Amino acid sequence: MNNLDIDYKTPECGDLYDELPLWSAPFGLLLLERVSLKAGMTILDVGAGTGFMSIELAQRCGAAAKVIAVDPWESAVARLKRKLDHLGLRNVRTLVQDVATIDLPDSSVDLIVSNLGLNNFNQPETALRSCFRVAKPGASLCLTTNLVGHMAEFYEAYRSVLVELGFTGRLAALDDHINHRTTIDSVRTLLERAGFKFVDAVTRTFKERFVDGSALLSHYFIRLGFLPAWKAIAPEGAVETIFAALELRLNAIATDRGELSLTIPAACFQACKPDE
Ligand SMILES: C[S@@+](CC[C@H](N)C(=O)[O-])C[C@H]1O[C@@H](n2cnc3c(N)ncnc32)[C@H](O)[C@@H]1O
Repeated sequence: MNNLDIDYKTPECGDLYDELPLWSAPFGLLLLERVSLKAGMTILDVGAGTGFMSIELAQRCGAAAKVIAVDPWESAVARLKRKLDHLGLRNVRTLVQDVATIDLPDSSVDLIVSNLGLNNFNQPETALRSCFRVAKPGASLCLTTNLVGHMAEFYEAYRSVLVELGFTGRLAALDDHINHRTTIDSVRTLLERAGFKFVDAVTRTFKERFVDGSALLSHYFIRLGFLPAWKAIAPEGAVETIFAALELRLNAIATDRGELSLTIPAACFQACKPDE
């Protein structure tokens, strides 16, 4: 038993109390509902970020479990390390690495998890092949991702603005951007190409709600996670014009519908490495 007292009045507790980005939460809860938990497993968390999933699994699977959190994002892993110290968790190891070249032996992990990693890997197939290499025969993989259909209401408005302002030459770029997200079939194919046996996929849809387009476009996580790619669809020199028109269009939609509600389709995939 970990007997370390945690005092909410300490500066560390207030500083580290927020466990995860809100965007990650519905996906993470879905993963935690589905993943099979066993004592004593070696678990690899791919694209761990600030590490809530590693911390959660390290505690839920007990002290005999070992968790390896891998992510090339140095400052996020540094925050994870501070959380581990604060919580007195000794069964999580961190690696600031690209999973494609991860420094782990072949056939060394029992479970691989990844919350919202897949859409962020430059080379998802290479990343999954590396996961396959380090997985023991019989190991499980459980990952979540958002799917094509993500924020469909936003992209519909973006398309109509491009058409109305005469930027139809950018519609292909918009479609490429929309379709870079996965589908159930595309993830299944990726998993199978990497050598995994597909087990199942469950989907869930949730909504992100805003009073209007101005609120959406000013939200910190939209500016951090989505806006740069949205702006890259617009032709250079016309970004401001297009985004001003888009903001007005989204605000008009919000007035019509009473709010701006964006659909987020989420999926949790389970797969395994076949026994030899
Ligand atoms: C959307 S964040 C998700 C973070 C965390 N799992 C969560 O749910 O909050 C995607 C993460 O994948 C990481 N990532 C991107 N490419 C990676 C790679 N090649 N290997 C490992 N992690 C990678 C990013 O640095 C980032 O932390």
